[in-house]
Amino acid sequence: MKKKSIIVANWKMNPPGEITARNLFNSIKDGIKENVSELKNCEVIICPPFVYLPLFQSVIAREKIPILRLGAQNCFWEEKGPFTGEISPKMLKNFGVKYVIVGHSERRNFLKETDEMINKKMNLIFKSKIIPILCIGEKIKERKEGKTFQALKEQLKRGLKGIFNFKKQKPYLLIAYEPVWSIGTKNPCPPEMAKKVLFFLRKIFKEIPILYGGSLNSKIAPNYLKIGFDGLLVGGASLNSKEFKKILKNVNDSFY
Ligand code: PGA
Repeated sequence: MKKKSIIVANWKMNPPGEITARNLFNSIKDGIKENVSELKNCEVIICPPFVYLPLFQSVIAREKIPILRLGAQNCFWEEKGPFTGEISPKMLKNFGVKYVIVGHSERRNFLKETDEMINKKMNLIFKSKIIPILCIGEKIKERKEGKTFQALKEQLKRGLKGIFNFKKQKPYLLIAYEPVWSIGTKNPCPPEMAKKVLFFLRKIFKEIPILYGGSLNSKIAPNYLKIGFDGLLVGGASLNSKEFKKILKNVNDSFY
């Protein structure tokens, strides 16, 4: 039997209304609940916008679904203070958040988040006992110039500088390989290509789970787990509860 698969739903800045958000969450949650014994080797992490976290936390606390967890999409690198618009890992933890996405390419791109900022965030996240999901990925130009591994290495070196012991493989985190050119483009990285990156990352991270993300859907999702990824980071397809539940089912059926 294969080890646990980690499936992350990154809702990004969606959906716009509370009712739709509740319906989406409840539909996914009920689907998991109905199939909880078959899905016991999965961990499902829903990462909604901040404002929905308290709503979902109360449902999770009440219904105690063992494989369903909450994640956030971002946090700041200070615990408190004059940082308008920011939110700290500790605040997230108080709302039952177990994971936080860091360094997503949309934040790197639209908000000019640097590896140095990401490093500061990672540092506080580790101290706050939340598990970071560190996103790394090459741009199309880097891929075309044959600089994929170099780009990933740079992001890892700077993002984890002084806070991750590569020898001891500690502290625990998740790595999400998300080629920038495949995010939201309906152009997933072909599994054979992704496999080479996985092989490269596996040499660096012996026991740290490595996820794939980028234009996933229910048809192709199992392929990435078959080649050795430990989980998936699903964006667009996680906003359609039917499709997302199909991803969980297909992932599950292909393994157990
Ligand atoms: P996508 O997004 O599945 O819509 O490509 C993935 C991500 O940004 O995490």
